Amino acid sequence: MPIRPTAYEFFAGGGLAGLGLGSDSGIHTVFANDMDPAKARAFVANHPDTPFFQGDVWGLSPDDLPGAPDLAWASSPCQDVSLAGARGGLEAGRSGAFWGFWRLMQGLADQDRAPRVIVLENVIGLLTSGPKTETGRDFAAVCTAMAEAGYRVGALEMDAAHWLPQSRPRLFVVAVRGAALDAAPQAPGPSAPFHTSRLIAAHARLPQAVRDAWAWWSLPTPPRRNLDLAALLEPDAAVAWLDDGEAVLALAAPLHRARVEAAVASGRRMVGAAYRRVRVENGRKVQRLEIRFDGLAGCLRTPAGGSSRQYVIVCDGGRARVRRLTGREAARLMGVADDYRLPASESAALKLMGDAVAVPVVRALTERLLLPALSPRRVAA
Ligand SMILES: C[S@@+](CC[C@H](N)C(=O)[O-])C[C@H]1O[C@@H](n2cnc3c(N)ncnc32)[C@H](O)[C@@H]1O
Repeated sequence: MPIRPTAYEFFAGGGLAGLGLGSDSGIHTVFANDMDPAKARAFVANHPDTPFFQGDVWGLSPDDLPGAPDLAWASSPCQDVSLAGARGGLEAGRSGAFWGFWRLMQGLADQDRAPRVIVLENVIGLLTSGPKTETGRDFAAVCTAMAEAGYRVGALEMDAAHWLPQSRPRLFVVAVRGAALDAAPQAPGPSAPFHTSRLIAAHARLPQAVRDAWAWWSLPTPPRRNLDLAALLEPDAAVAWLDDGEAVLALAAPLHRARVEAAVASGRRMVGAAYRRVRVENGRKVQRLEIRFDGLAGCLRTPAGGSSRQYVIVCDGGRARVRRLTGREAARLMGVADDYRLPASESAALKLMGDAVAVPVVRALTERLLLPALSPRRVAA
């Protein structure tokens, strides 16, 4: 019997990282933390056997954490580093939570319990966030901390669209130390598709000492995705269509409106996804509906003020109908099985999923990099 490697899951939300690490096999979560009460309820409902601490990561000490984990996962809050946000950087408000996590890693190292692998998941904006004059300061700070703690550091930009019908690029910084390094698949230089040009540029901006500790983790290109948005939707009769769908469609700019008209005229059933966004046109802020018919949903976000909830547009029978994406559909777009227990409220379900990490992305990372790196621990009984 192989011994399963163990993980701590920080900023765990509804526990989607743990689902990808391995709920029945693979890497076993032995401790999880999140401060948000609604997230905590979702976590506990879906992972009743996993020890969970609800509270601020800064309120934890290494003595609260069980055993010596093989891996620590951190999906630290991204608001302050996201391209859409104010970009105060990792030291600002909520993103500062990363350092609360890092303080625990340092505490574990002092007690000789440091994980062999650490993963930080974040938005792509982490590659460039920082003050105007210091592009990439936060990324450098994270990688420097990891390198100074004796880890080799590498990063991958993985888009959920390789596995799921959702455009969701995310950054995964993976730090590996000790014997795990021998087994972690590395290449001498960057390789497609996960070492993107913006990642390569961010690497070039890192201090020399961090580049000396850098590793180009090598993951194979996944097989072509064979699932599109239409396949994940609820039946038409089971969902509520908007009475004012035409008014929503009227927000589309001419190019997007033309896409809808072409879809209706095609006579085939065509499914699109759309977001309302504020755009500046002729010096004026206007609400615009931006529609795509490429088989993908746009990146799920947390619904703030209602305007960022995604629409589904179905063109068939000579008309276009509009409705909102449901919480269950959002869960499917994150690779979550239908037996996952979602919060009763639609907005809570959408918030849970909008904040989460896509399960098949974590699974691919686990199978191709994390488990191989941790394989020396797997011994036959
Ligand atoms: C980007 S979400 C991660 C969600 C998770 N990966 C999932 O799949 O559901 C960040 C999470 O960090 C939590 N969080 C933010 N600041 C925190 C802090 N100081 N201590 C503990 N959790 C925090 C939030 O409640 C949120 O659930």
